[in-house]
Amino acid sequence: MNLAFWKNEGDDTAGQVDFSRLPRHIAIILDGNGRWAQRRGLPRTAGHKVGAETFRTIATYCRDIGIDYLTVYAFSTENWKRPKDEVGTIMTLLRRYLLEAIDTMERDNVRLRFMGDLTPLSGELRALVDRCNAISDRLSGCQCCICINYGGRAELVHAAQCFAGDCAAGAVKPKDLTEESFEQYLYSGGIPSPELLIRPGGELRLSNFLLWQCAYAELYFTDVLWPDFTKAELHRAIAAYQSRDRRFGAV
Ligand code: IPE
Ligand code: IPE
Ligand code: MG
Repeated sequence: MNLAFWKNEGDDTAGQVDFSRLPRHIAIILDGNGRWAQRRGLPRTAGHKVGAETFRTIATYCRDIGIDYLTVYAFSTENWKRPKDEVGTIMTLLRRYLLEAIDTMERDNVRLRFMGDLTPLSGELRALVDRCNAISDRLSGCQCCICINYGGRAELVHAAQCFAGDCAAGAVKPKDLTEESFEQYLYSGGIPSPELLIRPGGELRLSNFLLWQCAYAELYFTDVLWPDFTKAELHRAIAAYQSRDRRFGAV
C-alpha cells in the first residue's frame, strides 16, 4: 500500500500504527464543536461548521488507509433539546454534505448509510438520503454510517418492535431469537461491530451511542475537541487500540 499520503503530517504518529492490522470498523462520537467555538468567542454553530470539515478530512483518510466501516454520531435523539438555530445549522450542514456526497461518492467509491429515525427530518433531507442510498446500492467501497436522530435505546426498542411484528405475522417465533438474528433488526444490521470507539471532547461517556454494538469495543477518549481532531489523533487512537489485549472474557 502506498502510505506516502501521511508523510506530510509533520509528526511521527503514523509510525506508531501497524497499517496491516487496522480495525475494520471505527466509530466516532463527534463531540466538542460547541466548546471549540465558545473558547474562541464564536457562536456554537461556528464549531459545527469546522467540525463538518474535520469529518470530511477524517472520513477521507479512513477510506484512504483502508478502514471498511466508519460510523459517526452526528445528531442524537437528545440533541433536539438544543436551541432551534443550532439544530437548524446542523441540518443545513447535513444538507450541504449530502448534496456534495451525491456528486462525489461514485467517484470516491464511498457508500453512505444512515442510522436513526429519519422521519422527523425535512422532506428535502429525506429525499437526499434516499438518493445517497440509491447510489450506495451500486457501490462496493468503504461504508460511512452517519447516525442522525440516533439513540442506542431507541434503536433497541425499534429492533424489538420489528421482531415483535415478525412474530405477530407468524414469520418467526420468540424462542428462535438469538444474538445474531436480533442484530439483523438493528439499524446496523449486516455491519460488523466496531472494534474501536473514539470519543473526542473530553467526556467519559457513551451518550446513548451504539449500546449493543460497542459491547466489546475498545474505548478511546481524548480531550481534543472534534474540530481540532487530526490524522495524528486518529493514529494515536489506532495505536492505543493496537496495544490493547482483547480477551473477550477469555484468559
Ligand atoms: C457536536 O459537539 C456534537 C453534536 C451534538 C452535533 P457539541 O455540540 O456537543 O459540542 P460541545 O460538547 O457542546 O462542546
Ligand atoms: C453526543 O454528544 C451526541 C453527538 C455527538 C451527536 P452530546 O454532546 O450530545 O452528549 P452529552 O450531552 O455530552 O452527553
Ligand atoms: Mg457535546
